[in-house]
Amino acid sequence: MKTPTGLQPLIDDGVIDAVLRPLKSGKEAAVYVVRAGDQIRCAKVYKDMAQRSFQQRVQYQEGRKVRGSREARAIGKASKYGRKQQETAWKNTEVDALYQLRDAGVRVPEPYGYFHGVLVMQLIVDADGHSAPRLGEVELSHAQACDFHRCLMRQVVNMLCVGLIHGDLSEYNVLVGPDGPVIIDFPQVVSAAGNNASRSMLLRDVNNLTASLGAWAPELLDTWYGEEMWALYEAGELHPDTELTGTFVHDTTKPDLEGVRHAINDAREEALIRQQGREAAAEMD
Ligand SMILES: Nc1ncnc2c1ncn2[C@@H]1O[C@H](COP(=O)(O)OP(=O)(O)OP(=O)(O)O)[C@@H](O)[C@H]1O
Ligand SMILES: [Mg+2]
Repeated sequence: MKTPTGLQPLIDDGVIDAVLRPLKSGKEAAVYVVRAGDQIRCAKVYKDMAQRSFQQRVQYQEGRKVRGSREARAIGKASKYGRKQQETAWKNTEVDALYQLRDAGVRVPEPYGYFHGVLVMQLIVDADGHSAPRLGEVELSHAQACDFHRCLMRQVVNMLCVGLIHGDLSEYNVLVGPDGPVIIDFPQVVSAAGNNASRSMLLRDVNNLTASLGAWAPELLDTWYGEEMWALYEAGELHPDTELTGTFVHDTTKPDLEGVRHAINDAREEALIRQQGREAAAEMD
């Protein structure tokens, strides 16, 4: 095939030898199957920022460290330099996350480097050597669905143990390899400790997976893994080998904020009525 512009510099530098075929062009990136020596790999070429909606990503940016105050100011101002830096930060986030998660033993594609804005990584294949299907595209037995769920909950825990939440985890970003699920697509990864929306993002990630796998094993729909792992994480008690039960006791001893608000309003109203009563009595005097 004709070499896509974004991949030419990698060929010129000898990082890859040939582009074999396009794999998929998604919202934010085009993924190609490439050859490097005798290895088949895949290359993720990010689309220009203009084609992506960055406004939606503001939530994700929170708590992510940007190197140097000049960069932070530039991003804040959305200057041309700022947009460029933001774009770089976005791509780097995926690459950094991939290396960090690989090192933590999370099931992700093996990264082979980042060149000219292109991420080169292991091509996940199925048992026949074809590029692996997504979780939403396969039929599973009841036992497989339960195995996959257990495996994926373990991956989410491992990620949380290194302080990261995927943020866009669903059956679209899980590939099914011959020895189980592999998680992909990390540019929106969030720092669990530095983001106000961490808990809800974690719950959404876990619920998406549970809902998909629950189609094959309905009893999964009655589990509370997200709530359970977040409570342990917040208490500093979550470890990669923590055994989860999927059950969660919702804390009913926490203050009922809505109730407190009502009580305050009632008290205020009562005080007002008493005040008006006193004023009326004073007038009559
Ligand atoms: N390492 C990989 N091995 C095999 N296939 C991959 C790999 N990485 C990506 N793909 C394929 O390319 C698709 C797009 O990749 P990815 O999800 O990373 O990019 P994206 O632009 O966010 O796409 P989308 O908008 O569809 O989520 C995946 O759904 C998958 O089918
Ligand atoms: Mg994706």
